[in-house]
Amino acid sequence: MTTIAAHELSLGYQRQKILHELSLVLPEGRVSVLVGSNGCGKSTLLKALARLLTPWQGNVILEGYDIQQQPTKAVARLLSLLPQHPVAPEGITVRQLVRLGRHPHQGWLAQWSEQDERKVEEALTRTELNAFAERRVETLSGGQRQRAWIAMAVAQDTPLMLLDEPTSFLDLAHQMEVLELLASLNRESGKTIVMVLHDLNLACRYADHIVAMREGRILAQGTPHEVITRERVKEIFHLDCQVIDDPYFHTPLCIPFARREDA
Ligand SMILES: Nc1ncnc2c1ncn2[C@@H]1O[C@H](COP(=O)(O)OP(=O)(O)OP(=O)(O)O)[C@@H](O)[C@H]1O
Ligand SMILES: [Mg+2]
Repeated sequence: MTTIAAHELSLGYQRQKILHELSLVLPEGRVSVLVGSNGCGKSTLLKALARLLTPWQGNVILEGYDIQQQPTKAVARLLSLLPQHPVAPEGITVRQLVRLGRHPHQGWLAQWSEQDERKVEEALTRTELNAFAERRVETLSGGQRQRAWIAMAVAQDTPLMLLDEPTSFLDLAHQMEVLELLASLNRESGKTIVMVLHDLNLACRYADHIVAMREGRILAQGTPHEVITRERVKEIFHLDCQVIDDPYFHTPLCIPFARREDA
């Protein structure tokens, strides 16, 4: 299990500050979901946690140490990031893409081991991509492509997985499959999962911990019951809704109303 935290983290792009002195501890071995309106800084935060952006102030702490001080390969063995809009190298097949996930595990001789092979096959099977393994990534449908990237993250087999809207292109059945897959990786091997989801109801069902962001700050965090209330949803999204008890899962179920001036 692996811990990650942000400490008074500020950063942005060019001169525009996006994250404002943000402090956050993501619970180890749990599933955390980041929610918030478009442009509030969720992807920026995930990229900062994965060391793809450099803090202006404050720091990201991975396993107790400042992430900026840690070697790239060591970071890649601890955490994987599935970006919101990943770009595959041209002409690469699904299997080759998934194999890239094993790169951080190779020693300086870059030897491909049986374990690497096993992890790749397992990731292809768990994302139901065996039939597509030899297809070029650019020939896949949006949803198949998204699953190929998820397979790569699964093959990387890191104790901490950061996923930016992993289900945005998936039909409902595949959304459920991917969320179940991530939940089982969490249950079976205690992986810490941090993901961005826009579907509040699925977020409530799968999250142990919800972090609500607004304008580059943490607005609220806690269990789905603590965070997804009518008042909070209004604060997060400026949207009126009714929150009821999901009759089956007993998690909060948000029924949105049309956006109104007074919301
Ligand atoms: N590379 C960039 N250069 C300049 N500004 C950027 C860049 N990437 C993001 N931004 C800006 O930073 C702000 C936060 O963007 P971010 O992608 O983190 O939002 P988000 O919460 O992930 O939104 P969404 O739900 O739409 O994915 C936005 O105003 C965005 O326009
Ligand atoms: Mg985003």
